[in-house]
Amino acid sequence: MQLGPHQLDPFKEDMPILTLAPMAGVSNWVFRLICARLGAQLVGVEFINCRDIGIRSRKSMQMLDFSDAPIYADTGISLLAAQIYGNDIDLIANGAREFERRGAQIVDINFGCSVPKIVAKGCGAAYLRDLDRLYQAVERTVKAVSVPVIVKTRLGWDEEEINILEVVRRCEDAGAQAVAIHARTVVQKYKGQANWHWISRAVEASSLPIIGNGDVLTLDDARLMQRETGCAAVMVGRAALANPWLFSGRSGATLSERIDLALEQLRLMTAYKGERTGVRETRKHLALYFKNLPRASELRRRLLTTASLAELADLLAEWKEPAAEEADLTLSATEAEALAWGGNG
Ligand SMILES: Cc1cc2nc3c(=O)[nH]c(=O)nc-3n(C[C@H](O)[C@H](O)[C@H](O)COP(=O)(O)O)c2cc1C
Repeated sequence: MQLGPHQLDPFKEDMPILTLAPMAGVSNWVFRLICARLGAQLVGVEFINCRDIGIRSRKSMQMLDFSDAPIYADTGISLLAAQIYGNDIDLIANGAREFERRGAQIVDINFGCSVPKIVAKGCGAAYLRDLDRLYQAVERTVKAVSVPVIVKTRLGWDEEEINILEVVRRCEDAGAQAVAIHARTVVQKYKGQANWHWISRAVEASSLPIIGNGDVLTLDDARLMQRETGCAAVMVGRAALANPWLFSGRSGATLSERIDLALEQLRLMTAYKGERTGVRETRKHLALYFKNLPRASELRRRLLTTASLAELADLLAEWKEPAAEEADLTLSATEAEALAWGGNG
């Protein structure tokens, strides 16, 4: 897949190009770096409101911390796509310029967020009901930056208002370099199944690279999505929380690898966000990394109730002793749905 000057290739020959979906509360730089190192060819950033960019709060400074981007630029392991959303087109274009200044290799505009209070303010998926405004937002952003601009969106408002083909055409006319499609409608949120058929239709109708997204829980799902739709790359969201090893073409990891990664993630997150927040935000991963283990429920219960890094490190070290069998970390459909807790895309 070509994105402006960047050529993306699959991590391994028999795999599609895989990208980490932008996920609020998940795609922070620690997790991005982990996924990039394991093989994600492009990593999304938690979405950032164009109105928060000038605010000097700790939270917005952390969200705007793209200090992993130079690592990707130096090593060529991945690309960072920083995502912006908002209801003011000038602020979106200015924000994109700031993203570029801070090292983002790609700017992604969110036209897919279905959270009611965001849509009510004219942000995210609200643009799907005003394609002239969508066109202007893309065009102005493309003019404001020299890095490639991509768009992430949904199929349309509801079953009666599926307009993804028109959206892709407008994005292409406005100068976007790719469109990522979460194959659900806005009204659907995360219910029902993603309808990949529309990804195929978009691929047929457009010369832009289309990044397929929605309900890819395993590597086989990713292969199937690419085979069925012809998409240029496959974007993985919830499944990556449980199994970032998926990016290297594996369905799971050994106990020892899972413990090492959990410890590294905890240490980096607590160094970055402070102990309380770092532990809290890493927990959702920990509970998923240690499923399908004998006595897993006891370990998971203790992981979820221990707040200090030192105690968690001791607990994980204790568990490293027994046999290091490889466990499948595939997310079940029910677990995936539970992870969508008001998910944004
Ligand atoms: C916790 C969570 C947070 C999300 N945050 C964002 C976001 O900030 N921007 C965005 O475009 N999509 C966001 N999404 C949507 C995902 O990027 C993706 O489109 C969706 O989860 C479907 O892919 P999946 O089936 O592989 O999970 C989020 C999803 C989840 C579960």
